[in-house]
Amino acid sequence: MCGIVGYTGGASAGPILLEGLKRLEYRGYDSAGIAVQESGVIHASKASGHLQHLCEKTHDGADLPGLCGIGHTRWATHGAPTETNAHPHVSDDGKFAVVHNGIIENYAQLREELTQRGFVFHSETDTEVVVHLLDYYYKGDLKAAVMKTVARLDGSFALGVVCADHPGELIAVKSASPLILGLGVGENFFASDVTALVSHTRNVIYLEDGEFASLTSEGITVFDCAGREVSKSISRVVWDVEAAEKGGYEHFMLKEIMEQPRALKATIEPRVREGEIVLDGVELTRQQLQGIRRVVITACGSAYHAGCVGSYIMEELCRIPVEAEVASELRYRNPLIGEDTLVIVISQSGETADTIAALRECKARGARTLAIVNVVGSTVAKLADDVLYTWAGPEIAVATTKGYTTQVAVLSLLSVYMARELGRIDEDRYRALVNGICSLPERCQRAIDLNTHVQYLAKRYHNNSSLFFIGRNLDYAACLEASLKLKEISYIHSEAYAAGELKHGTIALIDEGRLVISLCCYEALFDKLVSNVKEVKARGAKVLAVAQEGNRRIFAEADDVLFAPHMDPLLIPVTEIVPLQLFAYYVAKENGCDIDKPKNLAKSVTVE
Ligand code: G6P
Repeated sequence: MCGIVGYTGGASAGPILLEGLKRLEYRGYDSAGIAVQESGVIHASKASGHLQHLCEKTHDGADLPGLCGIGHTRWATHGAPTETNAHPHVSDDGKFAVVHNGIIENYAQLREELTQRGFVFHSETDTEVVVHLLDYYYKGDLKAAVMKTVARLDGSFALGVVCADHPGELIAVKSASPLILGLGVGENFFASDVTALVSHTRNVIYLEDGEFASLTSEGITVFDCAGREVSKSISRVVWDVEAAEKGGYEHFMLKEIMEQPRALKATIEPRVREGEIVLDGVELTRQQLQGIRRVVITACGSAYHAGCVGSYIMEELCRIPVEAEVASELRYRNPLIGEDTLVIVISQSGETADTIAALRECKARGARTLAIVNVVGSTVAKLADDVLYTWAGPEIAVATTKGYTTQVAVLSLLSVYMARELGRIDEDRYRALVNGICSLPERCQRAIDLNTHVQYLAKRYHNNSSLFFIGRNLDYAACLEASLKLKEISYIHSEAYAAGELKHGTIALIDEGRLVISLCCYEALFDKLVSNVKEVKARGAKVLAVAQEGNRRIFAEADDVLFAPHMDPLLIPVTEIVPLQLFAYYVAKENGCDIDKPKNLAKSVTVE
């Protein structure tokens, strides 16, 4: 969703802001703009559509002179993606320019009030109220005007502000939307996420909600909402620039699929010491674990699908009830969650609005909360009682791949750890599962090695307009993610179905030539799944099966077979999803889709 950058220093701000916006393109956007301040004047330029339009319009930023400025990529919420609605918004007297990420929930009421006071609105955005409020409250004291403005705003927002009267100064405000400050030498930055900062600096400050900062080329001062100076620690980002670049691959998605063995290794290896699972960052004692009666896993999108996989594994091993629920439902459901509930929140970005709201709701009900997150210092990571990071590195493609598999790996580690602490598995089972988890990076590589065969199958099946994924148990949980991957990037309609449920209605849609992708790696239910394969074949469907290596019986049932490396049944979702990620990728490529930036989607959904 919307991306924000800010720069103040000794270099021309325009090109630096555009470079930062390029790195934020992956978040999803439909218009862009920059504003640069120079000797008491603010120059702004905006363009709808691709960032390239703004680069051309401003001659790569050179047309906007000045050493300090703000930039924005907008993902339209209030008003169409037009140039007028694009940020930055500039006050009528030209004194303020503002960029905003999030939603000002009381904007309609503020707009009415400001209109009555004589302010004229030019856009349909909620953001424009901010610039008029600053104009209204500004009496020569920038900090006071910012505080008064922020005090009037409800909702989620990260703001970047420049004022013509304050050369070289940027204001950054954070309230329930991500914003990170970057410390350079003789220059300072802010951005919605670290990918826009790492080419300049790895020293960052994470703002807390309610804090704001003043940045000049010499330094950064952070204040709380009452205007008191706050001392902040500097964190070091471990991601490097290369990690956020394509490194020779045609798409970030392909690069990230290929990176999965490394990401899994980085996530698993530090947590298994001499054969024992060690979960740094989790302070749950055995006694506390024994007091847990129920586990609720909540998340959105693919993270929710990882949670579905986790619910099967954890319940099977720990023998306590485990449910996965999408965060946007859980938050408004008055759920039965209390002190005896462990709530596991999963999020790659750590900034998904519904996930954060569900986490807050569960905390308020007294639940113990544990987060599985990829982005260090993100809101979810800060709010949860315990944090287990997935060490996947930056994920740029909108369709998650390594984010998902590392989440499943962490859930597997956590489930095995809990099962042993609760005395629900014996030593042999524990050792076998730990060994299985440790083999995931190598097995994942073997699944990636199916690449050429998957490309061939994608060529063969890319013309289908609608298809089904079926499976049972963990295979079904993997179907959910496989189907979403295909939909997201190739725009082909697909549905994930619990195979046994097909005949209760959906089988009516199976006709001659319909593609049914059957996941049958969960061998305990292989025969049951074969019955479902026969049902769809009898109605003319084509079947592409994903089976465990060595399963010869599948040849008699399916038209095509993809073999996933042999695994412990509880660990198959990690390896069987890999060929299906590749399948989605190559189908989308065959169909000429914009793989890294699918239409209408955003990498990080920071509004409800
Ligand atoms: C968006 C992304 C998905 C992601 C979901 C949850 O919809 O496009 O890929 O799974 O958000 O994101 P999170 O950062 O919370 O994992």
